Amino acid sequence: MYAGGDMTDKKPDVEADFIHLAKVALSGRGQDVQLAVHRAAKRHRDSSPRLAAELTQLLREIPSKCSPLRRHADVPLPVDIDSRLQLMRVEEHPELDHEPVLHAAIEEQLVRLIRERRKPEALLKVNLLPTRSAIFTGPPGVGKTMVARWIARELNKPLLILDLAAVMSSFLGRTGTNLRFVLDYAKSLDCVLLLDELDAIAKRRDDKGEIGELKRLVTVLLQQIDDWPSTGLLLAATNHDDLLDPAVWRRFEAVVKFPLPDQASITNMVGQLLEPHTNKASSWAKVLGIALAGHSFSDIERDILTARRISAVMETPLDDKLEALVQMDKRSKADRIAMATALVHQGLVSQRRAHELTGVSRDTIRSRATKGDDPKSRGRRASKANLRLVR
Ligand SMILES: Nc1ncnc2c1ncn2[C@@H]1O[C@H](COP(=O)(O)OP(=O)(O)OP(=O)(O)O)[C@@H](O)[C@H]1O
Ligand SMILES: [Mg+2]
Repeated sequence: MYAGGDMTDKKPDVEADFIHLAKVALSGRGQDVQLAVHRAAKRHRDSSPRLAAELTQLLREIPSKCSPLRRHADVPLPVDIDSRLQLMRVEEHPELDHEPVLHAAIEEQLVRLIRERRKPEALLKVNLLPTRSAIFTGPPGVGKTMVARWIARELNKPLLILDLAAVMSSFLGRTGTNLRFVLDYAKSLDCVLLLDELDAIAKRRDDKGEIGELKRLVTVLLQQIDDWPSTGLLLAATNHDDLLDPAVWRRFEAVVKFPLPDQASITNMVGQLLEPHTNKASSWAKVLGIALAGHSFSDIERDILTARRISAVMETPLDDKLEALVQMDKRSKADRIAMATALVHQGLVSQRRAHELTGVSRDTIRSRATKGDDPKSRGRRASKANLRLVR
């Protein structure tokens, strides 16, 4: 509680409130001025009802430019009590640079989440409510945050993001209060709320001195998840599901496990990224679908962007830079052999080209390919487009 924030029987201190308000106003933080006025109105409601009524009226009459959701909610966006920083990001109309590539394993689950919200009557008819909460798990850069944004956009609802890693304040007790602020605020809106980086809570557990505070924080979290109304959608994301308290885990009605992209997903993503920039996009997409196995979507996006940037600045053909991506030097010998064999096996390049791209000898490629398949017939099946890529 800040100066003058005494909620006991004592008469609230108008002077202290006035000074606080002046401080906030003079530092130009419009959003915080609103909050200070709102708090003052609440605090003085009993002792000076006229003052409180006038302040409330002012808040109503002067819409805020800083808070895009003001027309939906009566309260200003929640801020940290001490730092006065906003606790969450608000995207009133979520937008995406490009569409997410959804692995077949999770696409159905995600589409169902959306459909339940679009057709609540079908559920109500059989006495069911739509899924209230879902947790996304998976390694970094596979689309957990992006998909939350995608869902909000598909549902035409604002997205509120609480980044737990950012708000885990040094005083854990305050994190609990902040969490309550945010969830209470979000509950009052028709929105999608994302608790991002939820594992940030669990990561603090190593510190023995904080166990009590952490337990309290987890209790707040559990309570808030339980109280979440089915009108909104509560999402959470983590890349350390093993660190999460099992009780937290159980609270979510759906668990969506985001895998690393498979070959088809990489090909799809690379194709989308290269399409406007080269007429060999589809051929490169197929080759990179194999070469970039094990990479996350965000790594792949970064690699392709870097290749395009270098090609633009150095005025070298994009093909050369893409080729360098296939050749990436840090691969083990075993990986290079597997890649060369797959490229030939799937009829994407000739044995000669596979040798050039991977450095694996043609003899090795031939002998590996013979073990699993007829390399000659496969090699011959390399499509014309890919043979052109091969030069
Ligand atoms: N499934 C996907 N389809 C298309 N692009 C993706 C996908 N996943 C990630 N990307 C790209 O990578 C970027 C980062 O992804 P995002 O932030 O959603 O990953 P994340 O799983 O939340 O990672 P972290 O665990 O590190 O928070 C996205 O903005 C997007 O450009
Ligand atoms: Mg994320």
